Amino acid sequence: MEETRGRVTRDGIRIYEDADFAGMRLAGQVAAEILDSVSALVRPGVTTGELDDFIRTEVERRGAVSATIGYKGYQHASCISLNQVVCHGIPGSKIPGRSSDVVQDGDILNIDVTVIVDGWFGDTSRMYGAGAVKPWRKRLIEVTHEGLMRGIAAVKPGNTFGDIGHAIQTHVEAARMSVVRDFCGHGLGRVFHAPPNVLHYGRAGSGAVLEEGMFFTIEPMVNLGRPETKVLKDDWTAVTRDGRDSAQFEHSVGVTATGCEIFTLSPGGLFFPAL
Ligand code: MF3
Ligand code: CO
Ligand code: CO
Repeated sequence: MEETRGRVTRDGIRIYEDADFAGMRLAGQVAAEILDSVSALVRPGVTTGELDDFIRTEVERRGAVSATIGYKGYQHASCISLNQVVCHGIPGSKIPGRSSDVVQDGDILNIDVTVIVDGWFGDTSRMYGAGAVKPWRKRLIEVTHEGLMRGIAAVKPGNTFGDIGHAIQTHVEAARMSVVRDFCGHGLGRVFHAPPNVLHYGRAGSGAVLEEGMFFTIEPMVNLGRPETKVLKDDWTAVTRDGRDSAQFEHSVGVTATGCEIFTLSPGGLFFPAL
């Protein structure tokens, strides 16, 4: 659909209007509510196929549309990425290294949901744990979440996208973990993926300058080992090359006059998992 309102910066980034924040807020809240509702189901023995079926139903129940079903041939209402899966894990498919899609005790999983509400996109993901999660996995989740929140803290007019990446990278590497380079955040609004690419690493002061009215995601993927990834033969599932664990959190945000609004805050305060 052709976008007609607002303007586009020299970097190709759309500047939305004050009234557009309400649309993003609603879409973001629907996506976050759905991630809240799935919390109670995540436990050893559940399958990723069951979790996706539940999510699909929750999307429909709210009168929203899944942005991922039909996107580049993808057929699911969520991506579910366990342990060494970095992103784009396919629900209902065999978990890499296993013979089924059954979640096991100690697994950590990212669930990523994108919905369309009144034409606006809400995109968010967070981590869940099943059963007793090992301390190093808890720490990976903590560092990834804190990396995202530090990135968000750098969002205000006059700062740059490089400032966001720098804040995330500095925190992650101080914890002796690594930032994935092969996937990034993205502009969104009335489209799923738009300029800019939001890198989760970088130099302070580099990149495009943030302006009020920009809408984008920040969604760092953090690895316990090396940052390299590879995509499996299913053409979607991205895993760490070294086989070590990975975690991710994602919020959709809008730049305000003084900072930013997080559109995808959890209504139940469940964004960071109780492990
Ligand atoms: N929600 C993902 C993102 O954060 C994109 C998933 S596309 C899919 O950008 F097709 F894999 F679902
Ligand atoms: Co995204
Ligand atoms: Co997402």
